[in-house]
Order: sequence, then C-alpha cells, then structure tokens
Amino acid sequence: PLVTSTDLFKRAYDGKYAIGAFNVNNMEIIQGIVDAAKEAKSPVILQVSAGARKYAKPAYLKKLVEAAIIDTDLPIVLHLDHGEDFDICKQCIDDGFTSVMIDASHHSFEENIEITKRVVDYAHNKGVVVEAELGRLAGIEDDVNVSEKDASYTDPDQAVEFVERTGVDSLAIAIGTSHGAYKFKGDPKLDFARLEKITSLLNGYPLVLHGASTVLPEYVDLCNKYGGNIPGAQGVPEEMLKQAAQYGVCKINIDTDLRLAMTAAIRKSLKEDPGNFDPRKYLGLGRTAIKDMVLHKITNVLGSSCTL
Ligand code: G3H
Ligand code: 13P
Ligand code: ZN
Ligand code: NA
Repeated sequence: PLVTSTDLFKRAYDGKYAIGAFNVNNMEIIQGIVDAAKEAKSPVILQVSAGARKYAKPAYLKKLVEAAIIDTDLPIVLHLDHGEDFDICKQCIDDGFTSVMIDASHHSFEENIEITKRVVDYAHNKGVVVEAELGRLAGIEDDVNVSEKDASYTDPDQAVEFVERTGVDSLAIAIGTSHGAYKFKGDPKLDFARLEKITSLLNGYPLVLHGASTVLPEYVDLCNKYGGNIPGAQGVPEEMLKQAAQYGVCKINIDTDLRLAMTAAIRKSLKEDPGNFDPRKYLGLGRTAIKDMVLHKITNVLGSSCTL
C-alpha cells in the first residue's frame, strides 16, 4: 500500500538503520528500485522532484507508482522532493502523495518556519507528513572553514526550535553533503560532531540526509570507458552513510547513483551492440543496473532489508 513514513522512521530510528529515498523519473527507474526493494524485503521511499513531474507529467508518475504497489505489494511512500513553495506541496498532497518536502531553507529562519508551518497545517489535516530543511547543503570546497560552516550547516539549537515551532515530521540537515556527482575536491568529510549534537538534542526525532550518493566508481568508470566524460566525480563513502544511520538519520536520499548506474549500462549496451535499435534492450539493461545498485544499497549500506 501507499503509506506515510511515520512508522517506517520510528522503526528505522530504533533499529539504527535508514530507509532509502530514491528519485524516480520513468518506468524503468521505478521498476528497478521496487524490484530490488521486493527482493530485499524492504520498504522504500519513491521521491518525485518538480523536474520529474515536468519530465514525465504528474499523472504518469502517480499511476506508475500505483502500478508498482500492485505488482510488488510493498509499502511505498510517495514523496515530493524539494517542494519550493506551498503551492507545489498542496498540489502533491491533493494528488495523493503521502509525504512532501517543503524546502524553504534558502529563506530566513523566520520565513522558513512560517512557510513550513503553513504546509504542515495543510498536510496534517489530510494525513500527509512533511519534511523540511534547515541549513544549506555545501558546495564542493574541500575545506569549509568554521565561519562558513556556522553560516550554512544546520545549527543544533535552531533545529530544536524549528521542529518545536513548525511541528514538521522530519528534518533535512546540512552537515557537509551536497547534490550531484562532485561533492568533495579533497578527502570526503562530514560534520559528525554536529550530527551527534542534533541527534541528542532532538532525541528520537527522524533526520534526513540529502546529497547522499556515493558516486560509485564502478559506474563512473563504465561511463568513462564507454564514451562518457565524468572526470573527478566523488561522493559520500558508504562507511559514512552507515555511520549516519547509527544516529538519527532515518532517510537517505539517492539520485545521482541511479543516474550513473543507468547511464553506465546504457552506454555499454549501445557501444557493445551497435546493430541494436530496440530500446527495450538498453533500457532493460539500465533497469537491471538500477536494481543491482539499489539492492546493494539496501542490503549493505542502509540496513533496511528484511524489515517489512
Ligand atoms: O535534489 C535533486 C534531485 O537529484 C532531483 O534532481 O531536480 O534534476 O530532478 P532534479
Ligand atoms: P544525490 O545527488 O547525492 O543523489 O542527492 C539526491 C538528493 O538529495 C535528492 O533530494
Ligand atoms: Zn536533495
Ligand atoms: Na537511523
């Protein structure tokens, strides 16, 4: 069934694991993810960005997710990723999403609270849960200095005040991750001391880690080997994701790793089989690559397998 994340996060928090939140844009991506979740006996969050809604059209994604539930019988959360204002959150709530993110993190603290609170009031009235964000995800500076950190990373005391005043159900925090395939110039580094502080102050409260792709070298290398050009890509090491899941992090967002896995498989297929022009062949291999990658994440990194 389509579910909210409330119960999933409670169990993930207590069990010290995390639920994967994977971005979906088309049928093959959805099928690859849910086939892996089914095999691993894991719940899963499918998240849709504004860009995904624009690309696939809202009705298609909704129906594809419904089809995935019919096909797998899994508990699935349908979540809006990075909703930028009240209106898109309202649209998704009205469309039957069970979870929305309002990302007002680029506004002032008071405005972020005000916008988030408005979404929370509307969502809760309809049984939908809300994720918000406090702090800003880093750029790719190899060493963010202390004053930059204090300006952009999540402030632990503000996090407590934010959650109390908004009633939001989960909070995305900034501790050094960033979106995309180029997360660090030097050695990867996350501010675990800050995460520990936030976790202890917000005792029992579910946190969310964005920008959590590992940028698996296996797929980057395949892309580059078969005509791609993705030099210097680097993500969050899987050991760090495991560590984050030991704290309050209950939701780990992954998009870039899906993109890389699918692109690697398709590049390889097109190169190795130049006579083929049946899209089912390369898209099917893209789907399998996504399934393999997600199965690996769920089983070896997130720890959510066999928790249904
Ligand atoms: O946070 C961003 C996600 O990777 C979604 O990306 O907005 O290009 O769909 P997108
Ligand atoms: P990645 O770019 O690291 O996959 O992050 C995805 C994300 O945070 C989606 O909200
Ligand atoms: Zn994100
Ligand atoms: Na956790």
